[in-house]
Amino acid sequence: MSILSVNGERLLNRIRALGETGRDSDGRLSRIAASDADKVGRDRLVDWFRDANLEIVVDRIGNIFGVWRDAGNIEKAPVLIGSHIDTVIDAGIYDGCYGVLSGLEAIQTLREAGITPARPIAVAAFTNEEGVRYAPDMMGSLVYAGGLSVEQALATIGTDGSVLGEELHRIGYAGTHEPGFSRPHAYVELHVEQGPVLERNRIPIGAVENLQGISWQRVTIDGVANHAGTTPMSMRHDAGHAAARVITFLRDRATASNTPTVATVGCIAFEPNAINVIPSRASFTVDLRDPDAERLRAEEAALEGYLQDLAAAEGVTISTGRLARFEPVTFDTGIVQAIEQAAAGRGLASRRMTSGAGHDAQMIARIAPAAMIFVPSVGGISHNPLEFTAGADLVAGANVLLDVIQALAAAD
Ligand code: GLV
Ligand code: MN
Ligand code: MN
Repeated sequence: MSILSVNGERLLNRIRALGETGRDSDGRLSRIAASDADKVGRDRLVDWFRDANLEIVVDRIGNIFGVWRDAGNIEKAPVLIGSHIDTVIDAGIYDGCYGVLSGLEAIQTLREAGITPARPIAVAAFTNEEGVRYAPDMMGSLVYAGGLSVEQALATIGTDGSVLGEELHRIGYAGTHEPGFSRPHAYVELHVEQGPVLERNRIPIGAVENLQGISWQRVTIDGVANHAGTTPMSMRHDAGHAAARVITFLRDRATASNTPTVATVGCIAFEPNAINVIPSRASFTVDLRDPDAERLRAEEAALEGYLQDLAAAEGVTISTGRLARFEPVTFDTGIVQAIEQAAAGRGLASRRMTSGAGHDAQMIARIAPAAMIFVPSVGGISHNPLEFTAGADLVAGANVLLDVIQALAAAD
């Protein structure tokens, strides 16, 4: 019996085509959630779902589902495949899109082969996974899983002052279904690793068994604006300098820790932001991550202690606000094993691993057994236009997804 395989060329062509949508005037891929660019990508995806005869469902938070309704007994809970198509600023073309388009490809492959699974299969593109414009990240899947009310999410104010609900309405993706309308039997997400582990070890498939905790905060430091030329160094209350000290504290601590802790300051703004004025205010973000819940809490506490000491030492005021906080997640052992078996069945080596990035799977894991499949990222580069995964690796991952969903859709 020949083993069923996805149409690799169709998958790769769609990944490239989606990667061309939503580019800015400088050619950068910036399909930020609920933007005009996101609309172009969504419209393209919906066209492909329609071409594949999937029923389109959009929920109130703008999550898009392509449902293979006649796949099996519609009374049964569906197997859900998902990820996202929103991007960061100046993104690569694989992050999220690969998982959604592979889900579509796997469904189309089963359908074209005349296979009728025992239960429905659906593919989802969740709203605002990246969290660049609206915090928290993984918002669409979080709302779907009941972790945030849809009203609260729709009222979120973006970094540009926009309101998410108004933007979804404006781009035509404020749907009517209540998020969580269908509780999946199982959830699988295929994604590029976005890190160096698989490539370094020459392993084509990652069976992702857990995902690290994520802590996002905004830190605001208020000092005193004064003249850059006349104010002696000893008389300054420099918010910019205090911010720089926090950045180096975080990096030095994480580097010296000998643990997987990672710390990043990705956004910063000074006021009044003038060359000859000591900054009166510095506002920046802190992204802290760790697979161990206790250690993540300890890192947050260490930062809090440092900020208190710094405020006293520099004569500045420091306040913090939470933007996102997610505990580490352990995925479903049965699905992780199904991924390993599927890889082995295709002669592909696999290894169990931890996800460093946040994913929609960590939210859907609250309401359904879930796990993820990773494929190698060249150079471990992501959130960067240089993000790349070889076509053969992408197709291999999609074939593993195909086998896993077939097994899950057949199970009772
Ligand atoms: C999502 O891409 C995240 O891990 O920040
Ligand atoms: Mn992603
Ligand atoms: Mn991402």
